[in-house]
Amino acid sequence: MINPVILHHRYIMLVTRTDIDNIKLVNRGKVRDIYEIDERHLLIVATDRISAFDCVLPTPIPRKGEILTAISAFWFRFLEDITAHHLVTDNFDEMPDSVRMHEYLRGRSMIVKRAKVFPVECVVRGYLAGSGWKDYLSTNSVCGHKLPPGLRESEKLSEPIFTPATKSQKGHDENITEEEMAEIVGRNITEKLKSLSLQIYQKASDYALKRGIIIADTKLEFGIDESGQIILVDEVLTPDSSRFWAAKDYKTGISPASFDKQFVRDYLESIGWNKKPPAPELPPKIVQATQKRYLQAYETLTGRKL
Ligand SMILES: Nc1ncnc2c1ncn2[C@@H]1O[C@H](COP(=O)(O)OP(=O)(O)OP(=O)(O)O)[C@@H](O)[C@H]1O
Ligand SMILES: [Mg+2]
Repeated sequence: MINPVILHHRYIMLVTRTDIDNIKLVNRGKVRDIYEIDERHLLIVATDRISAFDCVLPTPIPRKGEILTAISAFWFRFLEDITAHHLVTDNFDEMPDSVRMHEYLRGRSMIVKRAKVFPVECVVRGYLAGSGWKDYLSTNSVCGHKLPPGLRESEKLSEPIFTPATKSQKGHDENITEEEMAEIVGRNITEKLKSLSLQIYQKASDYALKRGIIIADTKLEFGIDESGQIILVDEVLTPDSSRFWAAKDYKTGISPASFDKQFVRDYLESIGWNKKPPAPELPPKIVQATQKRYLQAYETLTGRKL
């Protein structure tokens, strides 16, 4: 399902789903299709699919996959002084022939080291939002972190907290305490992943804030590579794995608009969709505005044009 459209006077391939016949598919997520290159490598293809309210929409956002791939690649390199990672190459011309023969994969593909992924999501929160805010409202704490009373929705925490979650197959991930995480991956690994996660969040969020983007929280995944080393895997600090807010619009006491999906969510709310699949199509205006936001996120963070 690849449809060419003309955008900014050039052909753009809209990629809503990939079916690469000569490479084995291992997972189709909401946005990314993962293939097996060989025993040691995977191919991660970011499509132009977009999800909202946990549902994949029928309308793709042109170039979204390319933008997400470029944002992740930027951060993997930016974080190299803190952690090793799985990215082998995002340069399409360096990829095996089996990949290069499919030109539409250009720009949206990464070859990565295949890792044994720890079955926990390493979440760091600098602000009180989403499930963290919900937990706080009912228990005054998040994942075992007791927080002061009287905090408001979206309030900046006095320091970022590590709030792990289990990776559930279907539905929502469940927040767990560090002790519960230690029962799954061990105490030693828990300490290491916590320390890496907090360092990554600190460095990336300081940098993003200087450029006008608040990274309210983020979800990281780690694995063990062939040599037994801990590496950062999956996608990193993208709008799909993190909560990005525009710093200039930041306020507490509300749930700030999402930097990237604001128009999509507002539109879906405005037409009264019941948030059950199938999701409705997006009108061209919303698609364009959303694409602009993704491009803006990339350009703001990297200082480059795509
Ligand atoms: N280097 C790697 N080695 C092995 N597995 C990896 C690596 N990087 C990422 N993964 C795994 O690939 C999968 C990526 O799936 P993806 O996030 O696209 O979909 P999902 O998690 O099934 O659903 P969702 O779209 O809701 O996130 C995850 O299970 C992730 O742990
Ligand atoms: Mg995932």
